[in-house]
Amino acid sequence: MRRRKTVPEIRAASGREPLVMLTAYDAPTARWGEAAGADMLLVGDSLAMVVLGHETTLDVTLDEMIHHARAVVRASATPLVVGDLPFGSYQVSVEATVAAGVRYLREAGVQAVKLEGAWPDRVRALVRAGIPVMGHLGLTPQSVHAMGGYRVQARTEAAVRELLGDAVRLEAAGCFALVLEGVPSEVAAAVTDRLGVPTIGIGAGPACDGQVLVVHDLLGISPPPRPRFVRPYALLGQAAADALRRWAADVRARRVPTAEQGYRLPAAAGRALTGAGTHPPIREVAP
Ligand code: KIV
Repeated sequence: MRRRKTVPEIRAASGREPLVMLTAYDAPTARWGEAAGADMLLVGDSLAMVVLGHETTLDVTLDEMIHHARAVVRASATPLVVGDLPFGSYQVSVEATVAAGVRYLREAGVQAVKLEGAWPDRVRALVRAGIPVMGHLGLTPQSVHAMGGYRVQARTEAAVRELLGDAVRLEAAGCFALVLEGVPSEVAAAVTDRLGVPTIGIGAGPACDGQVLVVHDLLGISPPPRPRFVRPYALLGQAAADALRRWAADVRARRVPTAEQGYRLPAAAGRALTGAGTHPPIREVAP
């Protein structure tokens, strides 16, 4: 029977075959992730940038995230679906965080939520409410202004200690997995060694228990430049633009649609319509 991966299965994957997580934002990306056998689909707040055209992830709302997450859940059957809590949905209070988590599970049908940063009190409250939580440390894009840009994090001894401490506190608070983004590979390896729950890396080197990428980067849909850690496995953005250019040229040259691509009236109706009437005669309908 085809069924979704569960949170306990993901939690137990630490140290086993690497976990595969892909972002998904709609039915096509969800189907592609499912076809790739992804263990998890993340409805990332990167939605704001790669789909909605915003400059940062700060602009996407919980309503928009839920709208997209519903499509991902609808179009997938086997991966665990994780919904990113967007900026503003958990920073204000523990109560607001739980309310956002409840909406996500109830309205979108995701199985877990993710939040950025060291918020063990939010994690504890969500877990107590029965809402599984994935953590996210290192380069946390919702803090782009505080970080002064999208910069690799944890590069000093003090920052490494802080990251390790935060990771341990998030695990103790109940996170079932932890995304590590934009940190030196040695730091990700140290966190992975220290934790019992799996780490999922993005720009964090090969030692993590799993990897995640933004599907638009991986498929070459996002315009360059691409981060160093992304090897595009296709160049779909270019292929799509080329295809659409060829179609536009064919339309302008009247090469499409061809007669074969049209629909035909039954012969009797066609004869009646090609005769004279109050309206101009309709020309022979293409086959
Ligand atoms: O929003 C997102 O896509 C993410 C991944 C990069 C981990 O948080």
